[in-house]
Amino acid sequence: MSKQLFSVTDARGLSVTGLSDTQIKTYDQILLDTYHYVPGTADELKSLLEEAPEFVLGNVLRGYSTMTDGSVSGKTVAQGYLENATKLTSGATPRERLHIAALGHWISGEHEARNAVWEDIIGKWPADLLAYRQLTGALFWNGDKKRQLAAAVQTLPYWSAEIPGYGLFLGPLAFALEEAGRFGLAERYAREALEINSTDLWSLHALAHVFEMQGRSTEGEAHIESVADKLNDYNLFRGHIWWHLALFKMAQGKLDEVLGLVDKEIYPGTSNFYLDIQNAASMLSRLEFQGVNVGDRWDRIAKASRETLSDHTVLFTVPHQAMALARSGEETHIANALDQWMSAGSNANGQSLLAAKVAEAIADFHLGRFSDALDKFARLRFELPDLGASHAQQDIYYQYMVMAAIEQEDIPRTKSLLRERIANRAETEADWTEARARLAEIERVESKAEAIMMLRRGI
Ligand SMILES: [Fe+2]
Repeated sequence: MSKQLFSVTDARGLSVTGLSDTQIKTYDQILLDTYHYVPGTADELKSLLEEAPEFVLGNVLRGYSTMTDGSVSGKTVAQGYLENATKLTSGATPRERLHIAALGHWISGEHEARNAVWEDIIGKWPADLLAYRQLTGALFWNGDKKRQLAAAVQTLPYWSAEIPGYGLFLGPLAFALEEAGRFGLAERYAREALEINSTDLWSLHALAHVFEMQGRSTEGEAHIESVADKLNDYNLFRGHIWWHLALFKMAQGKLDEVLGLVDKEIYPGTSNFYLDIQNAASMLSRLEFQGVNVGDRWDRIAKASRETLSDHTVLFTVPHQAMALARSGEETHIANALDQWMSAGSNANGQSLLAAKVAEAIADFHLGRFSDALDKFARLRFELPDLGASHAQQDIYYQYMVMAAIEQEDIPRTKSLLRERIANRAETEADWTEARARLAEIERVESKAEAIMMLRRGI
């Protein structure tokens, strides 16, 4: 016999099963804190679930958060939460049942089915911040940028400044607009969110991307530094904001400060977290391309990469693991890793295979096989966005291609790649004028050193 669970209403008027009138207030805050990257939300949610084990969405959110951590090993933990939630299905609302289904699809690796369920939810219940944030976040790593913007536009009519969590709606809207090349609109919505909360990290991040794409490195640096003393109040996502600050500094030639940020903020200790590995490896490669001696800094990232070789579900991490393994000096490490990734990719196709192929190209580069590296990259270069991540992150591929062409002393090819590299920065007339000025500068490149200077600047 199905049991009717107690139901209350959340801050946006949606029915939530399994909580009391007091407990729903705690959940409302946990949801906001989760997407504000406040540390400790997992523990708070665990405590709430101990008090209210029949809280359907609480179990789902724990499952989502575990999956968001991006490790294969986390699936077992998420499975436990899925089982708890599934037992509560008969008393759950239709919306909650869809969330349970989405979590199940995710754990099974059925990303398309998972995304379709979340789209179904936000189509029917645009107030569902949980589905909206999970969907837009997941699409980022699926490389599905048009769909991210579609999701934000889907819920746009519902939202207004009076609705709790409005800023958390704006961040993904701003970011999706930025990646679609709509820099002006992206800046407007990111700034609106930052008016509500100046350290809303996803909106801050969207604004950083606008600065990056428009070559506004001094402005970007100043903006992030204006909130720098608060960044470490947030969870590990903060490392990526520091990464953006490092990019702004690099564009201005402040390479010592970039190295300082790597040591102090981007990869200060040891971390197996996928985003930390990506941020650190990508920044060390960029620094080396600029001629900076990074010492033994690859070693810790290589160790983390070995420990998590096939444990990352975010496959944009794989090329970064390849960088660290190839640069840490042990040829067997990268050879073993390539075997493992290629065998996984050959069985799975899609992102796994693409990740393995990129890893091969990176290994070729670091083993001095520049022609092979460039051939492999060049063949793949218009598929590379399918591996997810932002335009700014994906620029690492062009960094490698340009350096491979430079190493072969092929100046025409170097210039051609430098021109392609800035193809995404053209929204307004002013952006286009700027892009054309950059193209004219590229035409004047005649030496390796000049090409490397062009690479230092943002896309
Ligand atoms: Fe970013």
